[in-house]
Amino acid sequence: MPQTFEKTFFLETFGCQMNVHDSEKVIGTLIAQGYRQVENVEEAGLVLFNTCSIRDKAEQKVFHRLNDFKKLKKQGKRFGVLGCVAQQEGEKIFERAPYVSLVAGSASYRNLPQMLVQLEAGNSRVTGLDDRQTDETFETEFTARSNPHRGYITIIEGCDKFCSYCIVPYTRGKERSRSSDSVLSEAHRMAEAGYTEIQLLGQNVNSYLDPSGRKSFAQLLAAVGEAPGIHRVRFTTSHPRDFTRDIVEAIDSLPTLCDHVHLPVQSGSSKTLRAMMRLYTREEYLERIRWIKEARRPISITTDIIVGFPGETNSDFEETITLLDEVGYDGVFAFKYSPRPHTPALSMIDSIGDEEKSKRLAIVLERQREIQRTSYCRHVGSIIEVMVEGKNEARGQWIGRTSQNKTLNFTAAAEKSPQIGSYHPIRVTASFPNSLVGEIVA
Ligand code: 5AD
Ligand code: SF4
Repeated sequence: MPQTFEKTFFLETFGCQMNVHDSEKVIGTLIAQGYRQVENVEEAGLVLFNTCSIRDKAEQKVFHRLNDFKKLKKQGKRFGVLGCVAQQEGEKIFERAPYVSLVAGSASYRNLPQMLVQLEAGNSRVTGLDDRQTDETFETEFTARSNPHRGYITIIEGCDKFCSYCIVPYTRGKERSRSSDSVLSEAHRMAEAGYTEIQLLGQNVNSYLDPSGRKSFAQLLAAVGEAPGIHRVRFTTSHPRDFTRDIVEAIDSLPTLCDHVHLPVQSGSSKTLRAMMRLYTREEYLERIRWIKEARRPISITTDIIVGFPGETNSDFEETITLLDEVGYDGVFAFKYSPRPHTPALSMIDSIGDEEKSKRLAIVLERQREIQRTSYCRHVGSIIEVMVEGKNEARGQWIGRTSQNKTLNFTAAAEKSPQIGSYHPIRVTASFPNSLVGEIVA
């Protein structure tokens, strides 16, 4: 007789917003199959990790976590690895972590109900690995969004860009877009259910290619922004190569489209960009930045940077620093280059030592902190609308988010406590490099 396990599950998510949203799909599917979500591993019959493999450190974290819980297998618990590490490592995970009995990549979540049946029947090696990775799991009918005000919609999966350092095209497969009609009906359904903010998701969200040929990305963005009841629309992540001027025009003409663009540059050196196979030069990137800056509304710009890519000289690195100064980003996510399996950069010599990478990373972060110290300061004295996200009880401050995606912590009189998810004008009274402080306007 196979040992039975309790139909309770614990799910931990690692990595990007795509993974966070994938977890919402997994949670909804499990609940529809009669499972109950619990808050800790001890209470769970089934323990799931939705994993990220973008850098080696992220991948190692998953295996460490699995190791921590190894002994719990004896208590009849089952373990599953989902997401990018699952797709990348496949059945090898069973060898490395024999207490794992489910390995499934993101393209196979539609088949989770069948996989659960196999698990329940005692199968200790259940897999959902899609070699072609062309399945679409944009949404499932069960998607359980965790926030009642702000929700994600996947509009494009996968990536065909093959930047030389990046594992995503191998873990998330070929680029495939969802029809604009399907995206719009989801947006309308969400608006009717009370959501006021929608975030369109895709590895390269602006590479969107409507299979029905009806709408460009900018047109889709505008159409979602016009859905009755929708107050804010965000989109992430944009690829500079596919970033067209009509996206800026759409933001400019429709106040519901948030004034924020995340446009990863990776490096300020055209030579390094070529080695990274990023498909644009420093000058072409800066041209897009110019379009954004020429908008009538001030649009906030954030980016991703990789330091220590193979062959990055001091002068290449210096070009990244001058780019930071030239653009004046409102936020930078910076990473040390990490060699990944399958990628073309793996065959280049990882010539820059970890110490030097750390040094370059610290220089980027320090320079950026100074830039933000000045730029966040400019908001002091102005009135900005926020969506209320929560409360920091210890500080007695409410936590809000601006259209530019900045955190604005504010105070409000006790009798005027705002509702989570509501929108309020806030007068900004102080600034830090990563947040603003203010008070609610009566
Ligand atoms: N090493 C370091 N950073 C990476 N990223 C992607 N692949 C790697 C890698 N191999 C970063 C890029 C990307 C972000 C999501 O992660 O900056 O934009
Ligand atoms: Fe990775 Fe480049 Fe695709 Fe982004 S565009 S997911 S960095 S391969």
